[in-house]
Amino acid sequence: MSTAAAVGSVSFAGAAELMRPPEEGLEHIRGLHADAIGLAPGSLLVRDGRIAAFEHDPGAELVVDARGCTLLPGFVDCHTHLPFAGWRAAEYGRRVRGVPYEEIARAGGGIGASARALREASDEDVLEQSAGLAREMLAAGTTAFECKSGYGLSREGELRALALAAALGDRVEQATTSTALLAHAVPAGHTADSWMDEVEAMLPAVLAGGGVGALDIFVESIAFSNAHLERLGALAAAAGLALRAHVEQLGCHRSVPVAIAAGARSVDHLSQLHPDDVAALAAAPCAAVLLPGAEFLGAEHRAPGRALVDGGAIVVLSTDANPGTSPIVSLPLVIGLAVRLYGLSTREALAACTLNAAWTLGLERERGSLELGKRGDVVLLDSPAEQIAYRFGRNPVAATFIDGRPVHVRPDAAWRIRAR
Ligand code: NIG
Ligand code: FE
Repeated sequence: MSTAAAVGSVSFAGAAELMRPPEEGLEHIRGLHADAIGLAPGSLLVRDGRIAAFEHDPGAELVVDARGCTLLPGFVDCHTHLPFAGWRAAEYGRRVRGVPYEEIARAGGGIGASARALREASDEDVLEQSAGLAREMLAAGTTAFECKSGYGLSREGELRALALAAALGDRVEQATTSTALLAHAVPAGHTADSWMDEVEAMLPAVLAGGGVGALDIFVESIAFSNAHLERLGALAAAAGLALRAHVEQLGCHRSVPVAIAAGARSVDHLSQLHPDDVAALAAAPCAAVLLPGAEFLGAEHRAPGRALVDGGAIVVLSTDANPGTSPIVSLPLVIGLAVRLYGLSTREALAACTLNAAWTLGLERERGSLELGKRGDVVLLDSPAEQIAYRFGRNPVAATFIDGRPVHVRPDAAWRIRAR
């Protein structure tokens, strides 16, 4: 995260819509409770990096003219695969002509291809590409995001990926977290079982750096099984880490009950969630992280987003930014997909990529909603919130603020920000 000094006071004056949570102090917003999110006119004052009042202070050091605009909490992208090296556009070209992801992966593409690219890239090249993506995310309103390892595919490779994630966090404006996706693909020369032995053996070294908050696994026919998910859950619990899991993406393996029993903080993808597992997930303290970018670009099945909201789940939307299944970094675009594909309301989609995403990363006390005392992470839209989805593909973000500092200002919106 950038160390630039916070602006003393910033006043956002006269917004047409200002997003407020249904109640103060919520950890997350389940299901239909999102309909109680406020989007009324309002002003906001950030002092010393924190939200200090819901009123305009004409004497503030910076005044943001928010007339006709919407003020949202900064978007939180809780599922990305940054940092990574290069892209896999040729693979996408094959997939749109019907070649399945699994077939490409078995033939040496997929995660294996990105692992080779990472191995061959210098640290600086990886950081430069990833920091460029973080700047794109800033321009789309993302003020905090998750980094994952997972393209290391060896002990040294995973430790390097986590070191790069930490270095990326130091280089970008956003707050970042690091997830060790140690069980992403089975490395050459290993079985899934023998690789899990290696994962267990490398865990002390992974934890030694101190920056890792969660462990993650890809449960799929081409990767790991529910038994491995259970095993990783036990390792995460013993280490005091959160458990995240990529499940039910390409096939249905009934991994959700296993993940919930293992205490998972989130289950991600869910494109082939079994209908019988919706109710259990809706009642669990476990986020349902939906990734409609991967579903759309991969012609995957569609997660039951509407049923999860109706059931009362902690529904989250994220980009899944990665060079394979989802080369997308814009949460406004993801909101547009989710509203259309799942039938979500604007408020449900907004809850999903603000407070609920922050909860998934353990950041909900500081971020994810506009509440007194929280950080001044604010997105200024040049439109009503409902236009995020409706004007699909257009970026409505006029400016992005972190701790009250303007960290991205679209040139045509510069006139709105005046220093006293
Ligand atoms: O979340 N599903 C596993 N991992 C990624 C894909 C990674 C890749 O193809 O590089 C995902 O979609
Ligand atoms: Fe992913």
